[in-house]
Amino acid sequence: MSGNKTFTMIKPGAVGNGFIGPILDKITTAGFKIIALRMTQMTKSEAEDFYDVHNERPFYEELVDFMSSGPIVAAVLEKENAVEDFRTLIGATNPDEAAEGTIRKLYAESLGHNAIHGSDSDENAEREIVFHFATKKIFY
Ligand code: RTP
Ligand code: MG
Repeated sequence: MSGNKTFTMIKPGAVGNGFIGPILDKITTAGFKIIALRMTQMTKSEAEDFYDVHNERPFYEELVDFMSSGPIVAAVLEKENAVEDFRTLIGATNPDEAAEGTIRKLYAESLGHNAIHGSDSDENAEREIVFHFATKKIFY
């Protein structure tokens, strides 16, 4: 059975370009309830840990540098079938391949600077929620 929570980050590029408001509006309009929300910045070391699954990939260093380069907005979202439905809402990893109307199609600059993160499984959603919120005061 699929879970009802996922984790997202509005990435530094989209935050810097002023897209926090429009992106949160797309998310809530699509039926996701925001149950935790925080603007923060990851240290390089935190970004390395968060993306450790990609540590052998050629883009790892670039990804870690970008994700720690400025503020992000981290959130926990609740909806039936959250992980899969949110991946549909954000669109393909490469914005050139993302469907019309998706968040990446609308707000991403490039494959590396693709506006938003979405968990890819219930297990990773749980890990990512704990990573960003477990040690802080939370609202769910
Ligand atoms: P995310 O984790 O950010 O939601 O993205 P995703 O699942 O769609 O893609 P993933 O495979 O997890 O890759 C993480 C991020 O790495 C960047 N990337 N760059 N240069 C490249 O070939 C390349 N491939 C991936 C993307 O910014 C992607 O979001
Ligand atoms: Mg991913």
